[in-house]
Amino acid sequence: MQICDKNIENYCISKSNLPSADCHALEEFTRANIHASQMLIGKMEASFIGFLLRSIKAKNVLELGTYTGYSALAMAENLPEDGSVLTVDINPETVKIAHEFWSKSKHGYKIKSVIGQALQLIPELSRDTKFDFVFIDADKRNYIDYLKLTIPLLSDKGMIVIDNVLWGGKVLPDSILDLSEHRDRNTEFIRAVNDYVAASPDLYGTLMPIRDGMFLVQRKH
Ligand SMILES: C[S@@+](CC[C@H](N)C(=O)[O-])C[C@H]1O[C@@H](n2cnc3c(N)ncnc32)[C@H](O)[C@@H]1O
Repeated sequence: MQICDKNIENYCISKSNLPSADCHALEEFTRANIHASQMLIGKMEASFIGFLLRSIKAKNVLELGTYTGYSALAMAENLPEDGSVLTVDINPETVKIAHEFWSKSKHGYKIKSVIGQALQLIPELSRDTKFDFVFIDADKRNYIDYLKLTIPLLSDKGMIVIDNVLWGGKVLPDSILDLSEHRDRNTEFIRAVNDYVAASPDLYGTLMPIRDGMFLVQRKH
């Protein structure tokens, strides 16, 4: 299920501030050459994340799920000169492509990439750092643990964005729309994280129907 009408999304994209030509080249390369390129966040979501980063004057970003480095670069472009994106992925092949494109960008120096299982790496990566922005976009099976592990790492103004939380509409209950034929195991993992945020009295969450669904999450103070 397409969450947003394509014409509407294209119109929004045409009027929005967008990632740079370097990001565009990386997006095009990935769509033309790399398996599962639908995983890219794309222009609309990148623009929205850029807006969020600027709004909170974010400096330190943690990303779970680098892939070919598009979202990391789009975020780096919206950070100050001393800002940083720490991004984690298990796949060295796609991260190699990411490095090739980051090195061509004047914002690439802000990105530090780590290869490995995010679940194991989060505790060691975050020992001395608080993050203003955490982008959760790795394997859906671990989404709920990623959320629980990163909430305590947020700075006072920090927020978490969890990606793909509508999962093509498959999270909807059958009573509203029966997509049971298309449902997969990830649907349940994503429903679980959505339910967790919705039921947490300490969290303020807003689920936005942008691209495949973005859950914006903050700690209540
Ligand atoms: C949806 S893609 C990320 C897309 C990227 N954020 C973008 O828009 O440019 C998900 C990535 O998570 C990575 N991944 C999957 N399981 C992981 C794990 N256990 N730890 C770290 N990364 C993982 C995959 O290798 C894949 O590159």
